[in-house]
Amino acid sequence: MIPHIPVLRDEVVRAFGNVKGTVIDATLGYGGHSEALLASNPNIDIIGIDRDQEAIDFSTKRLASYSGKVQIIKGRFGEVVPQILAERPVAGILADIGVSSLQLDKKERGFSLQSDTLDMRMDKDAPLSAYEVVNEYGPEELARVLREYGEIRNAKRVAEHIVRHRPIASAKELAEIAAQVLPKTKKIHPATTLLQAIRIEVNQELRELESLLDAVETYTPKGATIAIITFHSLEDRIVKNRFKKWSKKCICPPEAMRCECGGDRALGVIVTKKPITASIEELERNPRARSAKLRIFRIREDI
Ligand SMILES: C[S@@+](CC[C@H](N)C(=O)[O-])C[C@H]1O[C@@H](n2cnc3c(N)ncnc32)[C@H](O)[C@@H]1O
Repeated sequence: MIPHIPVLRDEVVRAFGNVKGTVIDATLGYGGHSEALLASNPNIDIIGIDRDQEAIDFSTKRLASYSGKVQIIKGRFGEVVPQILAERPVAGILADIGVSSLQLDKKERGFSLQSDTLDMRMDKDAPLSAYEVVNEYGPEELARVLREYGEIRNAKRVAEHIVRHRPIASAKELAEIAAQVLPKTKKIHPATTLLQAIRIEVNQELRELESLLDAVETYTPKGATIAIITFHSLEDRIVKNRFKKWSKKCICPPEAMRCECGGDRALGVIVTKKPITASIEELERNPRARSAKLRIFRIREDI
């Protein structure tokens, strides 16, 4: 059984339709996007990265028939992508940021509201788990996590409430305790964004994304297609702003009286003026695609 349906698969395939060369799949997961890319485009080979050993094991088997065209690396893309870009040219980078369905569905991984553990590490060998964040962070630090990554307005009060109820052993217990002081919500459980905030802290998800974008900005792989799928507004904002910055022709400071940079400093073009989202048909098949946003940037050839 395949544990994860790749979101926006056809749109990703289209984005890399004319690409020739190596594509880094920075979030290999269960290999769904990589398999679709390899099957649809004979001109590409893949370097797949994931920090989760279960995902690596699954996709290694799944992609075995493409063995000559696939290299798989276990690690954080924020660390591995800059190493690759420093060493060799690549024709594209795909990142489908976030957690996989298997990570969410396996209760023992501690990602979901029903989990009876408090873990949330994508890499089971990583030193920091949700248990430490929830049970050992001071109230101010916990409030910062909730405010910055969950955009929770009464973060200080929620953090103090959590601290008073420690020790907390599971995501389920955490959600119940936090819900006592979180604002009521209609469609989703009130603790959904709180769990998301803790997950982002545990896996340093925004820092990882920034490091990936920094690497592209530093090494500017000639002609490369950069396609990034995000699942919440914090990440989408980061991608959107970075693509906007890269597309600026003039990089003179705003106070400059006239352009002195030459006006030809754009790294490339934004391919998707608006993000691509899932079609109604896809949402019927896979409701988890509802918040997915795909943005694409193309680095210029003559850089
Ligand atoms: C949404 S899933 C990707 C699914 C994949 N596109 C597919 O079609 O099967 C995200 C995957 O990225 C991995 N991941 C998230 N952040 C990562 C990071 N910073 N470094 C490496 N892997 C990461 C997760 O472990 C998870 O397996």
